[in-house]
Amino acid sequence: MKDTLKIQNHEIYISDTSVRTLASECSTPLYIYDLPALKQRMAEFKDHFVSNTLKTHVIYASKAFSCLAMNQLVSQFGFSLDVVSGGELYTALQSNFDLSRVYFHGNNKSDDELNMAIELGVGTIVVDNLMEAKRLVRFCENPKHKIHVLLRVNPGIEAHTHKYIQTAFIDSKFGISTLNTDEIKAVIDTIQTNSNLQFDGFHAHIGSQIFELDAFKAEIEKICQFVQEFQNQTQIQVRTLDFGGGFGVRYTDEDQPVEIALVCKTIVSEAEKQIAAYELSVEEICIEPGRSIIAEAGYQLYTIGDLKQTPNRNYIFVDGGMTDNIRPVLYQADYDFDIATNADAPKTKTVCIAGKCCESGDLLAENTLVQPYQTNDLLLVSSTGAYGYSMASNYNKLAIPSVVFVDHGKIIPIIKRQTYQDLIQRENLIDQDLFSL
Ligand code: LLP
Repeated sequence: MKDTLKIQNHEIYISDTSVRTLASECSTPLYIYDLPALKQRMAEFKDHFVSNTLKTHVIYASKAFSCLAMNQLVSQFGFSLDVVSGGELYTALQSNFDLSRVYFHGNNKSDDELNMAIELGVGTIVVDNLMEAKRLVRFCENPKHKIHVLLRVNPGIEAHTHKYIQTAFIDSKFGISTLNTDEIKAVIDTIQTNSNLQFDGFHAHIGSQIFELDAFKAEIEKICQFVQEFQNQTQIQVRTLDFGGGFGVRYTDEDQPVEIALVCKTIVSEAEKQIAAYELSVEEICIEPGRSIIAEAGYQLYTIGDLKQTPNRNYIFVDGGMTDNIRPVLYQADYDFDIATNADAPKTKTVCIAGKCCESGDLLAENTLVQPYQTNDLLLVSSTGAYGYSMASNYNKLAIPSVVFVDHGKIIPIIKRQTYQDLIQRENLIDQDLFSL
């Protein structure tokens, strides 16, 4: 169990808020964020991603958890925001986020999304490919402000991570390989035909849940080397480098992530070193953490329902499942589970935790240890803050749970639970005559 959690009368408290209070006031399943822990993590990024010689920007990758309240918090910390769709951009707009601090990513932005970004005055568009650059140039006739452009490149670094979430292998759908300088040059030439667009530099993202600092060092060195060769060949000036996100977090004791302060300091010092060594004109560096900002502050709370024993399994059934956290099924992701109403007992029970979806694979854990339990106990899953809510679905027409921040005993609702009405609100009843044979 995490050391930020407390136990009193056998029960877990998150930021001085008991799980029974959370369950009775907000019902389960429930997404919970420990606000002081989240703020502390954000402060670590703010304090340590700094340089004496370069401008530095932390850009929160909102795909990890996007909502109005989170965007407000990101703005409060002075971070920028990475969005990858019209929907994430709209969420930024509605949260009154300063759109000049938005970076619009994505490998297939639609015409509508590009036009929306231009009309709203998005600060930076991260272009993925030549076709997109041509569309952007066509659409960008009368923007509110000059739009900054970064080009996503693929430095071909293989980070040690799950293959489904690796992005920088040579056949990646993202960006253009740094080996393909002709195409990179063509994109920049295209951008530079439109004086409303300003080419600033390059972006790369080498994968997710990466623990080796060497992978980031290799990325920085490779990109700086590429920029030097490219600048020598083309005389194109590069002022910004964005190294992406992907910093590993602790899901279970097996994970031993590097402290965020050290990650930030290493990236800054490596960038300073390589930029000087390759004599680059780069003035500004960025990182795009998503998971490492939001994952560990997040929890999910379920109520234990029926129990079942099969020859080889002790099943615990919970009132949610793959619809509110797809990660165990999709990536075989592991988490720490606690019987939150019997948390000080030793973990002596080996269980299989199953959701309620009509899908045999709907398991949150196949084989995990928990404290002794009974029906109606509460089950807490730790480090679920990233890519849980944001990848939730309505399979089986299950309602997406509500989300709350907790702050020293105070419960702050930030997203309402869907109602049954919400589940059908976009559906039409049609004229029965249409079905006549
Ligand atoms: N920047 C770019 C361009 C990205 O593609 C991503 C993640 C990030 C930043 C943030 O990466 P992070 O710091 O969160 O690792 N659904 C998967 C993760 C997919 C990540 C996609 N891109 C999961 O649940 O593990």
